[in-house]
Amino acid sequence: MTGVPFLHPLTRRRLLACISATVTAVALSKRSFGAETAADGYRVLHARPDTAQLRGKDAGPTPIWGYDGMSPGPTLRVKQGDELKVRLVNDLDQSTVVHWHGLRLPNAMDGVPFLTQKPIEPGQSFDYHFAPPDAGTFWYHTHFGSSEQLARGLYGALIVEERDAPQVDRDLMLMVDDWRLLDNGEIQPSFGNFHDAMMAGRLGQYITLNSEDTLDISVKTNERLRLRIVNTANSRIFQFRTAQHVARVMAVDGQPCPPNVAPNGVLRLAPGNRVDLFLDATLAPGARAPITVDDLRGGELQVGRLVYDAGPPLRDKPLGEPQPLPDNPIPAKLDVANALKLDVPLDGGGMGMMMGRGMGGGMGPGRFQGYGVPPQQRIWALAGVSATGHDGPPIFTVARGRTVMLNFANRSAFPHAMHVHGHHFRQLDPSSEGWRPYWLDTVIVDVERAERVAFVADNPGKWMMHCHMIEHMAAGMAAWFQVT
Ligand code: C2O
Ligand code: CU
Repeated sequence: MTGVPFLHPLTRRRLLACISATVTAVALSKRSFGAETAADGYRVLHARPDTAQLRGKDAGPTPIWGYDGMSPGPTLRVKQGDELKVRLVNDLDQSTVVHWHGLRLPNAMDGVPFLTQKPIEPGQSFDYHFAPPDAGTFWYHTHFGSSEQLARGLYGALIVEERDAPQVDRDLMLMVDDWRLLDNGEIQPSFGNFHDAMMAGRLGQYITLNSEDTLDISVKTNERLRLRIVNTANSRIFQFRTAQHVARVMAVDGQPCPPNVAPNGVLRLAPGNRVDLFLDATLAPGARAPITVDDLRGGELQVGRLVYDAGPPLRDKPLGEPQPLPDNPIPAKLDVANALKLDVPLDGGGMGMMMGRGMGGGMGPGRFQGYGVPPQQRIWALAGVSATGHDGPPIFTVARGRTVMLNFANRSAFPHAMHVHGHHFRQLDPSSEGWRPYWLDTVIVDVERAERVAFVADNPGKWMMHCHMIEHMAAGMAAWFQVT
């Protein structure tokens, strides 16, 4: 992959050449102990420091921040339409909030500091409660001081279960993350530094699946797995691959799509993106197959393995073509003729070559409104505004029910991952001029590309829109809009 000229050296192992043959099947969920429920039915979740064995059992622990001390935090499950009640207790020594990524929820529950709620101070708590309208794969993460708090591990999965569960043998969460570690295993603390913010964001050299060095998933021949994959990295785009297996995509960003097979089995996931795969374990008993991500240099890194049981197959042959997942009640009728149309240029950053075009040669004073972001951090801009996403005026206000069309035009030297809160959007296919057959809440906008998206603004409130590359967001690529 070009366009990412700055990268910390990747350390050692996990190149495919050195796969060891010894296998210990690691239990996937050691994560269910200690769940605390209050008398009033709230699931109590503590944001607190702890440690994780990111570098394997034999290396020293890494101090992290996690929900209930774990990263990923506990996987929360709720049935579609039922109320989820979570009391976040802040046991950190700084403020925090929880954002429920991809959920179409009441605005007051969206977890954006200063826009939808006050930050939760150390020692304080906040009650989140909402009934998710859509079944699917979502995630929750900090939205405060994210460059540090997300990089330290404050995220977890939220699964909204279909009323009628599809036929799969097992349902697994796979959260892929990159960590920037010091030699002693501690998280390197240069959060939000100028260099990262100018370039591709904070990229870590250490890649984990569910915070495991190499995640072994034990399978039986002809078993069907539902793999729910989430990119939880601060800024890294992953090309995720389940080698030797057909990756049948069933849902994207939590919303069902027509089942389709990923070309070459590669899933390109921006920070925040999710994909639900149905994976049929079609290899012979005893087989091994790597799960990989790209190393940004054209190679592949093993982050996990499918480890086949040597015993007899689970069934004679794999299950047949799956039915699509049931539709969610998302407002599907886009009224393009009467849409509010807005150009959203994405400007700024380093690497110069396009600075002159979008930036008038640089970020001179007065070029941007710049409210809320200290001048030295005004590196990026969205729709001509370099801001925090909660200060200042909205970039637009739209009446509830109207269609909004946004043209995200990347005029910088780095890709961006544009995320809209509280709504899912369609993406225009430039070749056919038709809408792609899936919904997204986060879209990659590559260098010198523009992506046109549209959604029905059906959810009243103040919603953030920002690059999900956290260092870009923190350095100005953030805004908000209002649905009245
Ligand atoms: Cu994953 Cu502003 O969010
Ligand atoms: Cu960005």
